[in-house]
Amino acid sequence: MARPLSQQLLHYLVDWRDSPWPIDWESLFGRSAPLSLEIGFGNGAFLASQARSRPDRNHIGIELSWSAATRLFQRLEKAQVENARALLIDAEAALQHLFLPESLTEVFANHPCPWPKARHGERRLFASPFLDLLASRMRLGSRLTVVTDHAEYAQWLGEMLEGHPALTSCHPGIEAPEIPGRQPTKYQRKAMAEGIPIHYFEWTKQAEPEGLIVPAHRDQVDGSGSRDARTWHDSMPTISLRGDYDRKLLLADFQPLTLRETVDNIEIAVRLSGAFRREEPPMWLVECFVSEGKLRQEFAIMVIERKANELFLKLSGLGRPHPTFGVKLAIAGLGRVLMESDPKLTIVHENLGAEALATACKSEVPC
Ligand SMILES: C[S@@+](CC[C@H](N)C(=O)[O-])C[C@H]1O[C@@H](n2cnc3c(N)ncnc32)[C@H](O)[C@@H]1O
Repeated sequence: MARPLSQQLLHYLVDWRDSPWPIDWESLFGRSAPLSLEIGFGNGAFLASQARSRPDRNHIGIELSWSAATRLFQRLEKAQVENARALLIDAEAALQHLFLPESLTEVFANHPCPWPKARHGERRLFASPFLDLLASRMRLGSRLTVVTDHAEYAQWLGEMLEGHPALTSCHPGIEAPEIPGRQPTKYQRKAMAEGIPIHYFEWTKQAEPEGLIVPAHRDQVDGSGSRDARTWHDSMPTISLRGDYDRKLLLADFQPLTLRETVDNIEIAVRLSGAFRREEPPMWLVECFVSEGKLRQEFAIMVIERKANELFLKLSGLGRPHPTFGVKLAIAGLGRVLMESDPKLTIVHENLGAEALATACKSEVPC
């Protein structure tokens, strides 16, 4: 008998917010197996059928739509397959933070949204920064399959792929004539019924050009792409400030502030939006919003008095933030606000790193 949705959800949906990043897929699946990814799995039929017909692989699907995910869970439950899981997150944020470089054996994208209007062009997946990121997550020799029924998108995608230094077509031309044995997806069947031609792209990663690897997570992946022994929990960013500050004035006239920076080609925006004070024992809570590329995190920073004349800034549990560069920048930014409002305060300890501190100091602060 099929389990209720609440139990399917616990089983098939990856709790990426509460897991260490990048995700350890082998422990999640309980086995070591090649990793196959489908981006935008829609009604889940293709992913469920891949999981059934390729039991030797671990299959991950990425979606933005919750209702799509529930349809996938029902299919997986019905097919009784154990080798598939879903991520509800933007594909770019997932590839950036949840997958190690060179971890994917196979990638599918079936009928990605074509965004036909010129003003929406930058929303298209597979524009060159995304392709660089995706290629960095693919193993050498792995295959990328993209299928579309949108002629103009196909033309554009062909140009993106052709110019890419790491990817090579598996066929003499840019497009494959067809893919024998392929199961058509819902969008593909609809297009075929209307007589619309289908465009197939099968490309393989044949090179690892220098500079293409984009770090998954600055704290957890070293230059070689291996997992750092530190876990999410023991690498929580903190900063301690010491000085003869006036407690009553601390953050009393706090003004919302925004920091903006581009680091490793990723646009980062940090917003410290409000400060709240508790009297006894004294404690301040500062609301934060951080966006890094497609990843958004909302959380709070606590300011507590640990010793006489010493303030300790750390993440509160609210929002379950991950210690990304942007989150460190938020703590460094708050440290800067405190030191600017009371020049007697100085840093006595921090684990944010020189780059976050320097970026917080040089960043423009428009209020
Ligand atoms: C046109 S539908 C195609 C669905 C299915 N692959 C098919 O062929 O029937 C595109 C799907 O991609 C998902 N999607 C769009 N942008 C995405 C993104 N940035 N990350 C993850 N999924 C995305 C949408 O929610 C939608 O379900």
